[in-house]
Amino acid sequence: MTMIPPGSTIGIIGGGQLGRMSALAAAELGYKVHIYTPEIDSPASHVASKVTVASYTDEKALKAFARSVDVVTFEFENIPVEGIKFLADIVPVRPNPRTLYIAQHRKREKEFAASAGIQTAPFTIVKNAKELEAAFRSLGVVRGILKTLEMGYDGKGQRRVNQGDDYADIWADTGFEEAIFEGFIEFEKEISVIVARGLDGNVSTFPPAENTHVNGILDTSKVPSRIAERTSVAARAAAHKLADALDIVGLLAVEFFVLKEGSVVFNEMAPRPHNSGHWTMDGCVTSQFDQFIRAVCGLPLGSVRRHSDVVMKNLIGHDYNNWQDILAKDPHAKVHLYGKREVREGRKMGHVNYVSNLTLD
Ligand SMILES: Nc1ncnc2c1ncn2[C@@H]1O[C@H](COP(=O)(O)OP(=O)(O)O)[C@@H](O)[C@H]1O
Ligand SMILES: [Mg+2]
Repeated sequence: MTMIPPGSTIGIIGGGQLGRMSALAAAELGYKVHIYTPEIDSPASHVASKVTVASYTDEKALKAFARSVDVVTFEFENIPVEGIKFLADIVPVRPNPRTLYIAQHRKREKEFAASAGIQTAPFTIVKNAKELEAAFRSLGVVRGILKTLEMGYDGKGQRRVNQGDDYADIWADTGFEEAIFEGFIEFEKEISVIVARGLDGNVSTFPPAENTHVNGILDTSKVPSRIAERTSVAARAAAHKLADALDIVGLLAVEFFVLKEGSVVFNEMAPRPHNSGHWTMDGCVTSQFDQFIRAVCGLPLGSVRRHSDVVMKNLIGHDYNNWQDILAKDPHAKVHLYGKREVREGRKMGHVNYVSNLTLD
């Protein structure tokens, strides 16, 4: 287990906005970044010192990439496990391959949380309409959600189902061969916690953010979140426990449902920076991206003290076209744009951190 000193090269798998903002944070600490992505002209490629454009299954390209960097990490965790193991044979991979294996599959992820003693929605695997019908009875629920086991994001690959619906029709419509079916949680709020775990096992959790979604896509994250202190403590403790159980080095973002009485239910986790942590860029002493780079390189973790209130608003699709207005109207609006050429519906183009209650000179 080695510390990776400034001047070294960090290899990042994935070329999206998370990779871009991670690369910017890496540069602030004197690191170079080599991005590996199948995408041409990716957001991260604009700010990286080296880019490999190749498929996640191209062993030759993966090998050359691994040999050119001092450590490998991920901004996108859905690369085939064989590819991850392939990299790990050559260079330190942080977070570890097992963490990616668990986090990239909804059943493994929920079973892992449950085995760590953290409450999840009731769930079961279904392979056809008949099993879907039976699942309502076995879980004892009247509403639920069918979700793809892998590669789901931004509410994609999900279908809500009520008891008594035409299961055959719904099943055929989803095109799933196998899916996870979860009981619907009547939550009061959604929150997320980002936890960082260093090479020395030190752990630091950012304050929970309160999240709202529109059309399955994160719309806003707010801090402080309006939750009871014990809810915050429970969420941070659960995230800490998961990070330890995974023996993760890096970040783990954990999404929770908050129930009326204040307890938390695990929804999903991602072993990387997370959209719901973008507020930290302008609200904390150390941003999630700074912390990510520190953890992955084996540096001491920074302070996660919050110095401002923040409302993070995603700029999705055509929201992007308002960038000039946003800049002109509010000098406390910190605008972050991802350099994506093409505006597409549902595409994350940037975000704005509306900062308030800050200490001004
Ligand atoms: N079991 C559930 N009960 C109630 N709402 C849910 C449940 N699962 C997902 N949702 C809603 O759908 C959103 C997206 O689901 P999630 O599992 O987080 O998938 P994604 O990977 O697309 O973010 C959640 O943030 C929540 O609003
Ligand atoms: Mg989610």
